Amino acid sequence: MEKLMILNGSPRAPRSNSKEYAAIFAEACSLPTETFAITPKNHLELCSRMEGFSQLLLVFPLYADGIPVPLLSFLKTLAAHPPKKKPVISVLINCGFIEWQQNRLAVEMVKLFCTQQGYVFGSALMIGSGEAILKTPFRFLAERGIRKLAASIQRHQYRTFHTTMPLPKKLFIRASTNYWLAMGEKNGVSKEQMETMKIE
Ligand SMILES: Cc1cc2nc3c(=O)[nH]c(=O)nc-3n(C[C@H](O)[C@H](O)[C@H](O)COP(=O)(O)O)c2cc1C
Repeated sequence: MEKLMILNGSPRAPRSNSKEYAAIFAEACSLPTETFAITPKNHLELCSRMEGFSQLLLVFPLYADGIPVPLLSFLKTLAAHPPKKKPVISVLINCGFIEWQQNRLAVEMVKLFCTQQGYVFGSALMIGSGEAILKTPFRFLAERGIRKLAASIQRHQYRTFHTTMPLPKKLFIRASTNYWLAMGEKNGVSKEQMETMKIE
């Protein structure tokens, strides 16, 4: 019986968009699934738990045009401690910008890991406007993409999918700027502070 392991690679896993995407996937997938968040301390435990799973889905956000650090360091541990039977690895990645294409590089990074470490790469879903889409009337587009991703993994007909909000870029930028300014104000951070390179 096939089983699918979902790993959340977001640095803010407990309250992440990835957590919500993973939950939608688990609901849409007919295979038994188990979801885990990657933490700095559970890498070895996750590697050994992976033994029982034929499929692995990495759910993570795009960070600085690449894979976020929690996932990157987990992949390093996985390279050193692979399971005896390697699962097929698929990805569900979301990014903040409206262009789903921004995610391509991170997908290539996971594909490179698979090639170098002897894993089969399965399917990919790239979501643009991933910070926002679930809170808008376009949520159905993300859910539809996730259903397609789940079906392709279940049927072993691996494919790459993408989705985003069908909005003009100018409108998206205006709406997202207002969103982040309001978020900054709520957290006591000004526009000027957000525009500096200091992130802490
Ligand atoms: C430090 C940092 C770097 C980010 N880098 C990018 C990026 O390069 N491109 C992009 O489109 N979104 C970027 N984002 C936006 C996230 O991908 C987006 O907010 C995502 O929904 C976060 O998902 P999560 O809640 O699962 O962590 C970045 C966010 C943060 C906090």
